[in-house]
Amino acid sequence: MPKDSYHIVVLPGDGIGPEVISHAQRILRAVESASGVNFDFEEIPCGGHYYLKHEKEWPDGSLDRCRAADAILLGAVGHQVDGKDVFTKPGRPYPTSRLAGYAQVIGNRQNLDLYANVRPIRLYPSVKTKISNQFKEVWNADMIDYVIVRENTEGAYTSETVDLEENGKFVGRGTMIRATRKATERIVRFACNLARDRNQEKRVTCCDKANVIGAHSFFREIFTEIASNEFPDIERDYAYFDAFCQWQLRSPENYDVVVTTNLVGDVISDNGAIAQGGLGFAAGGNIGNDRAMFEPIHGSAPKYTGMNKVNPTACILACNMMLEWLGDKHGDPALTEASKRLDESVAEVWALQKAVTYDQGGSAKGSDVAEAIEEAFLSRYPVSNTKSKS
Ligand code: IPM
Ligand code: MG
Repeated sequence: MPKDSYHIVVLPGDGIGPEVISHAQRILRAVESASGVNFDFEEIPCGGHYYLKHEKEWPDGSLDRCRAADAILLGAVGHQVDGKDVFTKPGRPYPTSRLAGYAQVIGNRQNLDLYANVRPIRLYPSVKTKISNQFKEVWNADMIDYVIVRENTEGAYTSETVDLEENGKFVGRGTMIRATRKATERIVRFACNLARDRNQEKRVTCCDKANVIGAHSFFREIFTEIASNEFPDIERDYAYFDAFCQWQLRSPENYDVVVTTNLVGDVISDNGAIAQGGLGFAAGGNIGNDRAMFEPIHGSAPKYTGMNKVNPTACILACNMMLEWLGDKHGDPALTEASKRLDESVAEVWALQKAVTYDQGGSAKGSDVAEAIEEAFLSRYPVSNTKSKS
């Protein structure tokens, strides 16, 4: 059932996070005015700069606020002082100390059980690939369209760290890499269902390091079991992730849906972003059964803070994933329609090179991109906008 208003918790975070979030919220306000849906935003301060002031990563009760939201929008976390990252307890290793802001990223993924990290690798027409500081059109846009589905709750992202000892002496530290049946089954089902919904090649590639890591060979076994028993219509494909890193740039057109473990997904989604024009276009959804959090995957990029320079497209695309997810979940056609029109608007702005930021070789500001996308979006809504124009 569509809701009268959708409660969105906004976590702007650090660095360029607040800036890209404000551009994206401008687009969400345009969605409200054009399509008639309502968002009720609740902003929660957080991240490394907040930690420095308050000795905690966000106000008490924030996790519950996130739990109660219809969706969460995250900017980026990670703050630096004199070029050094801010850790929660300086000088001590994970998990007793960690980059301040992980409560929002890894904490939310784990505590809210947002088990599928969905990262579309998609190239919009006229977006260039930056290679050795030159901007080239390497691929046709229709060649780059696949989705990485990253297991988001375990793998190497556990706090199971042990001190290693030999003859009673500390010799180093180890981290457990974990793949449980439950988490692996559900991520495989998620990926196979996505391949069905996309209805393209209907192929799922299992990407891992099963030849070396025991937890990954278990992941692969479960993939084979679930995919072959429950999804006979889906073609199964396998890749070791070192080789995959080459193939995803050599022949990206071969992929449809890629299912993978947490750390591998972290690596191959940044590597894959090269083919979509860089991290300025890379958005992600952290999706569970009832909750979801959406974010650009570029991080806080401290050196660009406050310059209105970075490309907000990734954050706007993250919002678009949110619109699509909310539209599906609540059966709200206004949201689904807005999501389609926003996607067309992003495509148009980049195809016509209306506002080109530095990451694409131009000098437009981040706000120029947001403004151009807003204008393209509103122009697709004659209904409520012609009213004020006429
Ligand atoms: C990502 C990021 C995070 C991760 C960091 C910020 C903890 O790199 O979302 O890909 O490693 O998952
Ligand atoms: Mg990453």
